[in-house]
Amino acid sequence: MIVTIDRLGHLGDGVGQGPDGPVFATGMLPGEVVEGELQGDRLQNPRILTPSATRVKPPCAHARACGGCLLQHASDAFVADWKMGVVKSALDLQGISTLYRPILTSPPRSRRRATLAGRRTKGGVLLGFHARASDTLVPVPACQLLHPDLLAAFPALEALVKIAATRTAEASLTITRSLAGPDVVVKDAKPVDAATQLDLARLSEAHGLARLTWNGETVALRAQPMQRMGTALVAPPPGAFLQATEQGEQALLQAVALAIGPARRVTDLFSGCGTFSLPLATRADVHAVEGDAAMTAALDKAARATPGLHRVTVETRDLFRRPLLPDEFKGTDAVVIDPPRAGAEAQTQALAEARVPVIAMVSCNPVTFARDAKVLVNAGYSLDWVQVVDQFRWSSHVELAARFSR
Ligand SMILES: C[S@@+](CC[C@H](N)C(=O)[O-])C[C@H]1O[C@@H](n2cnc3c(N)ncnc32)[C@H](O)[C@@H]1O
Repeated sequence: MIVTIDRLGHLGDGVGQGPDGPVFATGMLPGEVVEGELQGDRLQNPRILTPSATRVKPPCAHARACGGCLLQHASDAFVADWKMGVVKSALDLQGISTLYRPILTSPPRSRRRATLAGRRTKGGVLLGFHARASDTLVPVPACQLLHPDLLAAFPALEALVKIAATRTAEASLTITRSLAGPDVVVKDAKPVDAATQLDLARLSEAHGLARLTWNGETVALRAQPMQRMGTALVAPPPGAFLQATEQGEQALLQAVALAIGPARRVTDLFSGCGTFSLPLATRADVHAVEGDAAMTAALDKAARATPGLHRVTVETRDLFRRPLLPDEFKGTDAVVIDPPRAGAEAQTQALAEARVPVIAMVSCNPVTFARDAKVLVNAGYSLDWVQVVDQFRWSSHVELAARFSR
């Protein structure tokens, strides 16, 4: 059948109107006329009859096979408009209008953290990303997403796959760029005995890994895998959350700093290891609250070791079950809140009651952001502006920072 694509779905598929409802076509763009065989609600092997003017040649040689990037066939301008549109639609649905600052997109080859999969083969090992919705592993030596330091660590990862995986059982390898070299977390790996642990330590040394964590246990620590956060140096626990690119982190931080202005007493909710807390502590007292005790410990240690910071206090607390209560915001000039994808409905309700003058909200999910924004707007806040930040270029992920005031 022939379909005209009229929009992108939330996972980046082209969507057109079929006889019985929406029809999805992978890799297609709005305005394109495509032909393919309809199976269920999906057009199989779609062929483009009329291409879109926004279609470009994918910059990565692996784009066709690899499931890591879904939008390499679209121009940067198209993706930027689309991501801005996703945020705007979510807010429109809640009846909220605001000012949109121009999107800030991280450059290619800037991802400082990625999870790859590895498996043994007859002749060696296979390391890469999965093809879309598939068990097939695609090697990605020329990946245009990953920071060159991550690509340079592929030989180390391949050596680890040899020990971790079998021909039928895959291992997962998360690699994070740190100031001391790659910080690697291997999961779903074969258990290792004492002799193999020694091999892993030697391998880490030979390849300059900062830290190697194997099925939850740190088996080699050559150097603390430090991250710079403002003037502080933090050693995050293995696998801890970190913004995906340095540029994205800076864009979010600048937006947060702009949002809270000259606030002197700041509460940072879902603080992680201190991405916002530590830079803000150069000019304000900060109370950081986070659910993961290892992360609050890392933040606390870094704050204590850094001269010249204002007062930094940390609290480990499950903010879904025990949100900070309105009374606990007494004396707070500004709140930074950066919840996981589910958003922070209960915490936002309490915030709305607390009437803190300024709130900087960071979000990786426009739908839960818009839901939580509505709670604040209903309580008398205005949404002053939204800054969309794209640190997951060529994917359908959208992130943003926003300022609320009352
Ligand atoms: C999107 S990350 C943001 C972290 C930090 N603001 C940053 O930029 O690095 C969300 C954080 O929320 C934490 N978190 C998840 N669920 C939580 C909960 N129920 N209570 C408190 N913190 C939680 C995670 O551990 C993670 O550090």
